[in-house]
Amino acid sequence: MPICQSATFVHKGVDVPSDYSYSRLSNPTRRHLEQTVAALEGGADAFAFSSGMTAITVAMMLLKSGDHVIATDDLYGGALRLFNNVCACNGIEFDFTDTSDIDAVKALIKPNTRLFYIETPSNPLMHVTDIREIGRLAHEAGALLYVDNTFLTPYYQKPLSLGADIVIHSGTKYLGGHNDTLAGFVVTKTRELADRVLYCSKTIGGQLAPFDAFLIERGIKTLPVRMDRISENACKIAEYLQTEPAVKKVYYVGIEGTEGNRINRGQATGFGGMISVEVDSAELAKQILARVKVFQYAESLGGVDSLITYPMLQTHADVPKAEREARGINDRFLRISTGIENIRDLIEDLRQAIHG
Ligand SMILES: Cc1ncc(COP(=O)(O)O)c(C=O)c1O
Repeated sequence: MPICQSATFVHKGVDVPSDYSYSRLSNPTRRHLEQTVAALEGGADAFAFSSGMTAITVAMMLLKSGDHVIATDDLYGGALRLFNNVCACNGIEFDFTDTSDIDAVKALIKPNTRLFYIETPSNPLMHVTDIREIGRLAHEAGALLYVDNTFLTPYYQKPLSLGADIVIHSGTKYLGGHNDTLAGFVVTKTRELADRVLYCSKTIGGQLAPFDAFLIERGIKTLPVRMDRISENACKIAEYLQTEPAVKKVYYVGIEGTEGNRINRGQATGFGGMISVEVDSAELAKQILARVKVFQYAESLGGVDSLITYPMLQTHADVPKAEREARGINDRFLRISTGIENIRDLIEDLRQAIHG
């Protein structure tokens, strides 16, 4: 698809319909990408934004003051910040819980509950929520279900086919895949929801620029190859980390015998590349960040390059300390995004970073 780098499009004549008029409404390069993502997720339509946070913000515009939302407590920190410090100030009520616990979710439903918002696996504790169960609860309550599908992508998980109404992506991550641009998506199950999102999107703005749309579409061409390699690497890294005495806990959906692994197998075809670990001291966590050579100490995830981040100081820095620590996101907690490098190099790198 060519890069249609234009803000406006010449009309063929008065009263002659044209596909494109102004790029905030639609742009050929962006539209092609949106149709690709809608097809991958099995949605009625998709909308591409300049970041994942813009996508979440636009999707939240479908709510109004007085509406109640039940959300995963272990969300990307930026989403928590938006919900607690912006949406809540505009009169939207939130309850956060571990949505992998269906009874805990049920107990929070109120007459004004209009939205269930989940990430599965969640960021960074990798809790897996049963999408079908939550979809059923949401629809019985007359509410919508939004699923942030950033971690598994439609290659492994298709939430719309499991009961979600809207899928959200930080396209910055696996869809783009190369850490070279930001992007976000809202994908809707129905045309009716698509028209509501389109109205908000064309009113608010924040759409993905044509060159960035081209980059994300180019990234998507290799999504299956990258996801397979990334997952294979992640499984081996998780296996290795479990043998290290200084690593106290490994959080990875691919680890057999856990409830998360069981639920994930029932709704997704792969485990992805995200691993979190708790090591036995803050000194060791810092030592690993300082010593890695193949991994890089950087925020973000989902690219071809392996990254390690310190959620306490980065992605979850704005979550109040007591709340963060109660959930285990402390100064010994690191999050790994596995890339496509040679697995021997990756494991050797972690080994030398841990042992010095
Ligand atoms: C799961 C998840 N959703 C949404 C976002 C926000 O996306 P962006 O950084 O593209 O705005 C992130 C960012 O890290 C994320 O990890």
